[in-house]
Amino acid sequence: DWTMAAYKDEAIRKIREQVGDRKVICGLSGGVDSSVAAVLIHEAIGDQLTCVFVDHGLLRLNEADEVVSMFRDNYNIPLIHADESDLFLGELEGVSDPEEKRKTIGRLFIDVFQKHADRIDGAEFLAQGTLYPDVIESVSFSGGPSVTIKSHHNVGGLPEKMGLKLVEPLRELFKDEVRALGRELGLPDSFIGRHPFPGPGLAIRCPGEITRDKLEILRKADAVYIDQIRKHGLYDEIWQAFVAILPVRTVGVMGDGRTYDYACALRAVTSVDGMTADYFPFTHDFLGETATRIINEVKGINRVTYDITSKPPGTIEWE
Ligand code: XMP
Repeated sequence: DWTMAAYKDEAIRKIREQVGDRKVICGLSGGVDSSVAAVLIHEAIGDQLTCVFVDHGLLRLNEADEVVSMFRDNYNIPLIHADESDLFLGELEGVSDPEEKRKTIGRLFIDVFQKHADRIDGAEFLAQGTLYPDVIESVSFSGGPSVTIKSHHNVGGLPEKMGLKLVEPLRELFKDEVRALGRELGLPDSFIGRHPFPGPGLAIRCPGEITRDKLEILRKADAVYIDQIRKHGLYDEIWQAFVAILPVRTVGVMGDGRTYDYACALRAVTSVDGMTADYFPFTHDFLGETATRIINEVKGINRVTYDITSKPPGTIEWE
């Protein structure tokens, strides 16, 4: 795509002009946006870039390993892997309000990121994979007062607190454009095609209190669901799909026994930019088969529901 090739060259030129011979830190989340930003900046300034990957313990199954091996092994990008899951999960104990969760995670993320970034001598810039929809959705609605629907933890007070200047090479782009840019940069299709994943991670897919127990159940159920979606060739037709574990246990029967386990909700939506979304019209066969697999394969869940809310009025995530 010649347009994206030109955009890439221009973006690289701008990064070099802004940064010169100084150092940049980039927070990697494992998502497409921060990954594309990191690879683009690495192409522009090489080892003047160091990435910091904060593992908050709220990632999907195997996700941390996949991200680390991709950046260290395939791209040779200097990467600090900070496993801070004990800290995050400890501080989240007893927290069930969605905004309080987001704020707690955002605050810890800043502290932890700063702690690790301080070890990188002389860094002056912070790179972020902020997209155009992040900018508008979290800032204001035109004509009215500034309103925040949900606090996004990737658009926050980090740069001021650390005295760093921002590098945001994706700020003018929508998601599909970021993917095109990622392809232009040679990122593997399997990575670029990944569904978006929110900064606060599984915390906002676990309404109510977050426990390690629930997170483990959620990870397993999510892995089965995504496996089903891939097996049926539907992954690329869907903008985002995930399981939310509900803060309610229900009664079921299994064999001769009674069960009393968690209910979960499957979510899958189509969208162009995440600002509006429609629920995905799975066939009943698909839904039935998936429910059976989750209940058989995931200990701790005995009821599966499908969320058919569009955005608006719902949001894509549950919190
Ligand atoms: P909602 O749930 O608001 O989400 O309809 C729209 C899109 O944004 C993602 N999302 C986030 N991404 N930090 C992020 O980086 C966040 O705090 C956050 N909250 C929601 C969500 O997954 C969806 O793709």
